[in-house]
Amino acid sequence: MSWPERIEGDGFALRPWRDEDADNLVFHANDAQVAHSLGERFPHPYTLDDAHAFIAHAMHLTAEKAYAIEINGAASGGIGVHPGEGVERHNAELGYWLGRTYWGEGIATAAVRMLVPHALRELKLYRLQARVFDDNDASIRVLERCGFVHEAVLRRAVVKHGRLLDLHIYAITRDTLDAAQ
Ligand SMILES: CC(C)(COP(=O)(O)OP(=O)(O)OC[C@H]1O[C@@H](n2cnc3c(N)ncnc32)[C@H](O)[C@@H]1OP(=O)(O)O)[C@@H](O)C(=O)NCCC(=O)NCCS
Repeated sequence: MSWPERIEGDGFALRPWRDEDADNLVFHANDAQVAHSLGERFPHPYTLDDAHAFIAHAMHLTAEKAYAIEINGAASGGIGVHPGEGVERHNAELGYWLGRTYWGEGIATAAVRMLVPHALRELKLYRLQARVFDDNDASIRVLERCGFVHEAVLRRAVVKHGRLLDLHIYAITRDTLDAAQ
């Protein structure tokens, strides 16, 4: 497998996490509005210890992949793919978040669009899926713009920050990518 070391976007880049990202990671991740739409693996409050633990984890991944979203030289968000196991080894989960300073500039859409073909190829996936809370309209928009298809609603599947929420499953498949080329 040969993931690119760095993927250049317009005004941002995807690149590996580094030890020296910890302060910027805390600055952008320690935000209730970011944590609001993410699972419990993304802590709130987000401490320096959490940042060091995540970076150490991200730097030693094998099958899984995690890139920092670098803006103006600073890690300002993250995007990653987590492959399934056993019969789901050719299916993976996509996750992403961005510091609130940069919301609404099209960066997440561009980052997802750039990462998808690499993830499908490098992890030999037939399918890449994302799970989105019902009230996360921005993320739903990102996925729709990147060609993900709404497949399912898991009713009342999530409890987060006092909200009982439906969970939406969006996915893109390898044949979609092949057909587009
Ligand atoms: C979801 C998230 C990554 C989007 O990042 P972003 O860089 O602002 O996204 P983009 O600018 O590429 O696109 C956002 C789209 O949603 C739209 N949008 C934003 N807020 C919206 C809202 N409240 N209702 C409807 N649409 C909304 C934007 O207009 C844009 O669509 P458009 O380009 O068609 O106008 C960011 O909000 C975030 O980090 N949220 C917290 C973590 C999270 O939700 N991660 C995803 C979990 S599935």
